[in-house]
Amino acid sequence: MATARAVIDIRRATRDDLPQVMSVMTAAFDPQYGEAWSESQLAGMLMGGAARLSVAYVARAPAGFALTRTVADETELMLLATHPDFRDQGVANALLRAAMDDARADGAETMFLEVRRGNSAERLYTRNGFANVGERREYYRGNKGQVFDARTFRRALI
Ligand SMILES: CC(C)(COP(=O)(O)OP(=O)(O)OC[C@H]1O[C@@H](n2cnc3c(N)ncnc32)[C@H](O)[C@@H]1OP(=O)(O)O)[C@@H](O)C(=O)NCCC(=O)NCCS
Repeated sequence: MATARAVIDIRRATRDDLPQVMSVMTAAFDPQYGEAWSESQLAGMLMGGAARLSVAYVARAPAGFALTRTVADETELMLLATHPDFRDQGVANALLRAAMDDARADGAETMFLEVRRGNSAERLYTRNGFANVGERREYYRGNKGQVFDARTFRRALI
């Protein structure tokens, strides 16, 4: 039997949406890898003006979010996460495609991101046209002081 496809509603978030975003953040990221941000880090990023935070809702529940920042003709995908209750329904894929559309509309010509080496999210990015262009040694610091390398991915938007 085919799996029913979720209806995914993506909306731009403001500071008022941060508690909902944090509920996804806390559930989505494993603290041992040190990838999650705090609410004050997110709020600080939103004050800068170059950042865009988008939330994906499924049946009105916050299911995932993406955070990007565009500077000149480059957009960085800083965070992408789906709540564990809403995984494998295409939420991250929809957020990534919307982030690419928004970046193009903002004038970006390339998008790049860092992902922890070994994170299965790499597949999501390669499926969407991103290529590994470099490495950053010891980029993430986990909750017990362990360090993890990151891989940089990039794709053209034009
Ligand atoms: C990585 C992450 C964002 C993926 O989220 P997700 O919403 O489950 O991803 P998607 O559903 O879009 O795609 C995942 C799988 O579902 C499949 N899928 C896509 N659309 C689908 C649909 N409509 N119905 C069913 N399955 C679907 C995809 O084929 C994919 O399978 P594959 O990876 O085995 O090839 C999520 O696991 C997560 O939040 N991880 C922790 C945070 C993290 O590491 N973020 C990335 C680094 S910043």
